[in-house]
Amino acid sequence: MVRAKKRRLIVVSNRLPVKIEKSRGKWKIYPSPGGLITALSPILRDRGGVWLGWAGCGKEAPVGRLLRQLNRHESYQLRGISLSEEEIAQYYRGFSNEALWPLFHDLLGHCRFKRAHWQTYQKINHLFARQVKRLYHRGDVIWVHDYQLLMVAHYLRQLGLRRTKISFFLHIPFPSYDLFRRLPWNGELIYAMMEYDLLGFQTKRDRRNFLRCVKEFMPEVAILAHKSRFTDVQYGSRRVRIGYYPISIDYKDFNDRAHDPEVTKVSYDIHRKLSNRRLMLGLDRLDYTKGIPQRFRAFERALEKYPKLHGNLSMIQVLIPSRTRLPDYIDLKSQLDELAGRINGRFSKHEWLPIFYMFHSLKPAELLGHYRACEIALITPLRDGMNLVAKEYCASSIDNNGVLILSEFAGAADQLSKGALIVNPYDVEGTADAIYEAFKMPIAETSRRMRVMRTEIKRNDVHQWAAQYLSTFL
Ligand code: G6P
Repeated sequence: MVRAKKRRLIVVSNRLPVKIEKSRGKWKIYPSPGGLITALSPILRDRGGVWLGWAGCGKEAPVGRLLRQLNRHESYQLRGISLSEEEIAQYYRGFSNEALWPLFHDLLGHCRFKRAHWQTYQKINHLFARQVKRLYHRGDVIWVHDYQLLMVAHYLRQLGLRRTKISFFLHIPFPSYDLFRRLPWNGELIYAMMEYDLLGFQTKRDRRNFLRCVKEFMPEVAILAHKSRFTDVQYGSRRVRIGYYPISIDYKDFNDRAHDPEVTKVSYDIHRKLSNRRLMLGLDRLDYTKGIPQRFRAFERALEKYPKLHGNLSMIQVLIPSRTRLPDYIDLKSQLDELAGRINGRFSKHEWLPIFYMFHSLKPAELLGHYRACEIALITPLRDGMNLVAKEYCASSIDNNGVLILSEFAGAADQLSKGALIVNPYDVEGTADAIYEAFKMPIAETSRRMRVMRTEIKRNDVHQWAAQYLSTFL
């Protein structure tokens, strides 16, 4: 019997899983690890295919040459999109990160809507579509990712790929209709998104919000079937599936690596240096969606209310530099410097500092060492598509001795609410109480809660996510 050939996969995302940067006058290529590459590389290796994206550099970088060198060692290909400085400013920093990012995270006050940025966003989505068309072979599966590329299918249809199945996954939240309508190009964007055949969201709520927008902007669309995981709608001659598929992490990888002697040593060293106290971890990209000032204020309030915490609990806040050229990110950094300084100035004693604050990324073993060392993780975004740090913390808690305090506005709260202490990050008082509750939680209770979360994450890991998404589609 001849087995049907597996269909190749074309992954399209704004960023490639590598970064190209100049270091000491020489262009170098670095891997940028993340959940997506972990999930997709086994599938890409198995089926073959291409990953198209931007390597984070300007047009002067020798992207083609560096990627060709890398591609020789892989069974799938990385292909780069080159962007000029102006395109990066308007498409990436401008429309993607100063319009869509804050709007989709319910933070209208951070939005800047500029027509020139919108035009460049369309132009770059068109550029991505042209490249996809060039790489496309009949039968390939096209999978586009995230808010930077909402319109790629729309342009692919214009370029003649009318019957090809094109799928999309949104990694960030989708806002309510009332918020979304603030975008001056709201209807155009919804129509463009409906050119995908499968639209995947993180949570039920995101899917519901999107469906409401479809109803409001596209009265001609008819609902065909409403199932628990997806809804099928008829748009012209096409059937579009709108579903939710909560993304996850590679549980086994985190769990296994957490046992490494190197990780154990990092964890041990942290506790040796910061001895005789519990540790509470905050770990985020520097971003105003992560609720870090509110988190610092909640810790300050906990120190005011519960003197027992003095000398007995320190917070380690790791901030990973991100989008450092955007004014709102620069302002946030100054605000946090000021807040951490003020809180430390107010409560420090010689032998104890309330907040240890780092502004750099951590190597993998250091990251896992921090997860293992900290008895509490305080993860309180104002809004988050999923929040994989919460899941990584649990998967690395191999001794079941960590308490997770999690914002109800993180997508991950849907799956982890049975084990985590769920808080409203805007409620400083409530979050302060949760910190104290975590601090004094009996070990049996901590362990019971952590086991529940680890089981959930193990059962629904990133491989299961990718398989489930693709099975809806293939
Ligand atoms: C979020 C987005 C990704 C993005 C990442 C880093 O996780 O969903 O699409 O790549 O942030 O942001 P950056 O702007 O550095 O790509």
